[in-house]
Amino acid sequence: MDVSLIVYYSLFKNTETLAAEISMQTGGELRELVPEQNYSFNYNTAVKEARNQISRGFCPRLISGNESTEEYRTIFIGSPNWFKTLAPPVLSFLRSHDFSGKTIVPFCTHGGGGIGQIEEVIVKECPGSVVLPGLAIAGAASPEEVEKWLRSIGRKD
Ligand SMILES: Cc1cc2nc3c(=O)[nH]c(=O)nc-3n(C[C@H](O)[C@H](O)[C@H](O)COP(=O)(O)O)c2cc1C
Repeated sequence: MDVSLIVYYSLFKNTETLAAEISMQTGGELRELVPEQNYSFNYNTAVKEARNQISRGFCPRLISGNESTEEYRTIFIGSPNWFKTLAPPVLSFLRSHDFSGKTIVPFCTHGGGGIGQIEEVIVKECPGSVVLPGLAIAGAASPEEVEKWLRSIGRKD
């Protein structure tokens, strides 16, 4: 059976909620990325920590979620939009695996900035893969929105 994988990082749970909805509608397996040191749950402190890591191109070590992806042909990859790009744990994941020959499906949640450069970064980090049009949600997604998108990319009948 061709089960897809839904990988995500989420600090404040918006992306986690979206990942869970995608999993429910596709039957895909959920996999959370957990960095060795998580970011502060204080928004302003998290902003400082994330800005510092992103500006250095830092890829944190993952203590969970970085297992093999070999058996999956389709991998959904979700991140909050952090300064228009991926959260560093997602970059760590992308740089740890070979996605050639696979189909990659980006999704993100954001605070008004949409998908930013997330799709471009994923295309760059996943050479040899097919990257489908992503979903960007401000805050919480409605099941209907997710369904419409999944149909538009041929991932739901
Ligand atoms: C460090 C940091 C940077 C952010 N940068 C942006 C941004 O550039 N554009 C934007 O629209 N939202 C930005 N946000 C808001 C988040 O993308 C938004 O709240 C998201 O839904 C959080 O996802 P989560 O609940 O899964 O952590 C930022 C939030 C944080 C904590």
